[in-house]
Amino acid sequence: MEIKSAEFVISNTDVKKCPEGNLPEYAFIGRSNVGKSSLINMLTNKKGLAMTSQKPGKTQLINHFIINNEWYLVDLPGYGFAQHGKSGREKLKCIIEDYILEREQLVCLFLLVDCRHEAQKIDLEFMEWLGENGIPFTIIFTKTDKITKGRLQENLKAYKEKLLETWEELPPILVSSSEKREGRDEILNYIEEINKS
Ligand code: GTP
Ligand code: MG
Repeated sequence: MEIKSAEFVISNTDVKKCPEGNLPEYAFIGRSNVGKSSLINMLTNKKGLAMTSQKPGKTQLINHFIINNEWYLVDLPGYGFAQHGKSGREKLKCIIEDYILEREQLVCLFLLVDCRHEAQKIDLEFMEWLGENGIPFTIIFTKTDKITKGRLQENLKAYKEKLLETWEELPPILVSSSEKREGRDEILNYIEEINKS
């Protein structure tokens, strides 16, 4: 799919204030620093569109970006960042959970996971929460430029095995590197297919 335009629309803490209308939207969630905002910039070919940082905890709002005037990409705050303190973490958790549970326009939630690490408790618990609430998700393994192809295959295999300990079926799985611009076509085609259906 060709990205003809990508523009920032609005930032919110409250799901009720997110854009009205029925355009479909695709949101990115995952641990702080996993690369959600960077992926939005890579997909849209716009470096500074979503704010990124080497330090975790950069994105603290629900950010809507309109693509081709037809659908939205949504950058969400990350979870699990200790430095926000307990009350800060709780606040972000509420923003994320309310958005995911209440946003009817959300057609696909991408859960980003750093491909370098073995399955983390916080991600597995988040997936469990999604499952309990009947929210389907698609995993994107990020930062594939940081390990070899062989290592990536090993890590993916181990991750899938871990998931199959608790899940009957695996979710769809994609991979990406915002640095090397890998996975762009696959993710955009994936979105295009959902938009068509
Ligand atoms: P929060 O907003 O804090 O939740 O983080 P985020 O998930 O939006 O992460 P962000 O996109 O800000 O990226 C965090 C750091 O990881 C930045 O230093 C990025 O440059 C780096 N990064 C993101 N994606 C990649 C990638 O594919 N490869 C490499 N090597 N670095 C990446
Ligand atoms: Mg971010």
